[in-house]
Amino acid sequence: MSIIALLPAAGSGSRMGAAIPKQYLPLCGKTVIEHTVAALHAVDEIDHVVVVISPDDTRWDELSWQGFARLKVLRCGGDSRAASVCNGLAALRDDGLEAQSWVLVHDAARPCISPALVAGMIAELKDDPVGGILAVPVADTLKAADAGQRIAATRPRDGLWQAQTPQMFRLQPLHDALVSGMGPDITDEASAIEKTGQSPKLVHGSPWNLKVTWPQDLHLASLILAGAQA
Ligand code: CTP
Ligand code: MG
Repeated sequence: MSIIALLPAAGSGSRMGAAIPKQYLPLCGKTVIEHTVAALHAVDEIDHVVVVISPDDTRWDELSWQGFARLKVLRCGGDSRAASVCNGLAALRDDGLEAQSWVLVHDAARPCISPALVAGMIAELKDDPVGGILAVPVADTLKAADAGQRIAATRPRDGLWQAQTPQMFRLQPLHDALVSGMGPDITDEASAIEKTGQSPKLVHGSPWNLKVTWPQDLHLASLILAGAQA
């Protein structure tokens, strides 16, 4: 049974506020997306790394992808993350990928993911009936705010986790869940699967697996990557 990594990379990076999409910003001598692709490509269990870019992306072809024999690109990004993932899944299915193949959806904007963490996740989930996601238990005390930005309540953090990626589900059930659940409340693959009544597994992720979202995240990512190489 195939195992595929699917990397949505068709976003514009509006919160980053840069002149170009954040996946193409420089980070430790490469671009963000080159780090992400390299990390997933280094996982032996993954048969193909498939990147979904925007149809009008002009930057992908300017990068050198030599040496990535198991890398494919699909120019079918949509106008939301869920749409990009859904279009990528449909293209994989139309290309003949078996319906029950595992797909690990991983944000192109998470360049610090460790190959060992991904390999461990695959080992933990490959016989699971549903699939699951990387996540970390919430560490901070949580406050609910009122309209005046004053604290309305303190929420217990017990049992709360922050979702990360990869999120690992089977091709056809994930595609069907995203199509039937498509809407603003579907912010990750797991939430679509949850809507079908199933309960994905939480696999311990890492605080290093940050998503590059705001400008200061690039600095944090560079420190993490520099530490990983030390
Ligand atoms: N993504 C995508 N297609 C979209 C929107 C997002 O493939 N229409 C991808 C991004 O490229 C990123 C991942 O989904 O790798 C996570 O999304 P996010 O961090 O929200 O990235 P952006 O949408 O680009 O950033 P922002 O929300 O700040 O505009
Ligand atoms: Mg976004």
